[in-house]
Amino acid sequence: MTDTKKSIHGEWSSRFAFILAATGSAVGLGNIWKFPYITGENGGGAFVLVYLLCVVFIGVPIMIAETMMGRRGRQSPINTMETLAAEAEADTNWHYLGWMGVAAGFLILSYYSVIAGWASAYVFKAFFGSFSGADAAEIKGLFDNFVASPVQLIFWHTLFMLATMLIVARGVKSGLERAVRFLMPGLFVLMILLVGYAMTTGAYDQGLKFLFNPDFSKITGDSVLTAMGHAFFTLSLGMGAIMVYGSYLPKDVSIAKTAFLIAGSDTVVALLAGIAIFPIVFANGLEVGSGPGLIFQTLPIAFGNMTGGWLFGILFFVMLVFAALTSSISLIEPAVAWLVENKGLSREQACVWSGLATWLLGLGTVFSFNIWSDFKVFDRSIFHLVDYLTANLMLPIGGFGIAMFAGWVMKQRHSEQELQMSSAEGYQLWKFLVCYIAPAAVFLVFLNVVGVI
Ligand code: PFF
Repeated sequence: MTDTKKSIHGEWSSRFAFILAATGSAVGLGNIWKFPYITGENGGGAFVLVYLLCVVFIGVPIMIAETMMGRRGRQSPINTMETLAAEAEADTNWHYLGWMGVAAGFLILSYYSVIAGWASAYVFKAFFGSFSGADAAEIKGLFDNFVASPVQLIFWHTLFMLATMLIVARGVKSGLERAVRFLMPGLFVLMILLVGYAMTTGAYDQGLKFLFNPDFSKITGDSVLTAMGHAFFTLSLGMGAIMVYGSYLPKDVSIAKTAFLIAGSDTVVALLAGIAIFPIVFANGLEVGSGPGLIFQTLPIAFGNMTGGWLFGILFFVMLVFAALTSSISLIEPAVAWLVENKGLSREQACVWSGLATWLLGLGTVFSFNIWSDFKVFDRSIFHLVDYLTANLMLPIGGFGIAMFAGWVMKQRHSEQELQMSSAEGYQLWKFLVCYIAPAAVFLVFLNVVGVI
């Protein structure tokens, strides 16, 4: 089947283009904004360790499975699941897995765009010198005033959604390859620079200790779930983003090697962000658990007080916005691909409708930081609820389904043929991980959270 079939939406020009796009999807707000603040909220080292274990034993095998399934199905995740289920002579209800992914993509993008909007606003704050010479209290005041204004948040959220839809409408390939090509090295250099600043704060050791000294007394069932959910989130797994990117992948590319490379770079960026941020937190007596505002309350202190900080501040937030853009386009791509395939819409029309829906949903997140901040469902604000629902529940459930499908439902000869691993042991190891380890781990964590074990 796959020998002749190509996606109607086009194909990456090379393996490198796919690596860039998939890394672009993986590296984003999850690494630089979310990883530090959830690490802070969940006590540091032990949480980081669980997250790293999840990346290696659950994330990488599922990334291989998702890419492989996408490339074999060659369509949007919903249709890919249907085609692959038919090929395996299994129940076509598997396509509901694709539907859940589309729903998760909408929900994640709805708040992702709001936070990326914050980063966009901070480009201008950096440019106009708002951080210059400011202390921790002033930087916190700046942030608190900003998020208290629904009008400002809506403005930036709207701009970011428009940018996302514009890029998606033009097709995944054009523009994207170039953006990621300079973004990744640029981001890397800036992160190293910030780590350099962190070393001068006097609290560098304390920051490192917090990140890498596991204190298991701080870990709860819920924090293990958050660490596992974050492994899915940061690698863009469990909702079809990597599957749809896999569907544009040329046939001769080694999927396993590519997955290692993507997961590796993603992890390095997250750890660098943590190493840069926590020393600043401790040196300024800030609260490690200050939540979603953490990077906006720490990094500007560095930019406001280091030599060349004005320029680095602008560059950093510009790069953060780009990193968010290369992720946001992958969040909406499964829905857009499906609308084009099944509803006969053009890419542009599909973008308008899905963009509008996401924008509306995003208002819930905007208001949860100001006028609706007291409105709680299950003790959570709308933003926290959407985040919990997607990262902690939908992505792990989606990943579980993908692992089960690749391991148990797909015929071995098909997955073998698609993966074409250079060693038989490599294939066996992957198969073992997707058949047993990844699904069992997800299942056990869920059982633990609901109190069964
Ligand atoms: N991996 C992205 C990040 O870390 O920012 C977020 C993301 C993108 C999650 C795409 C899920 C997804 F499908």
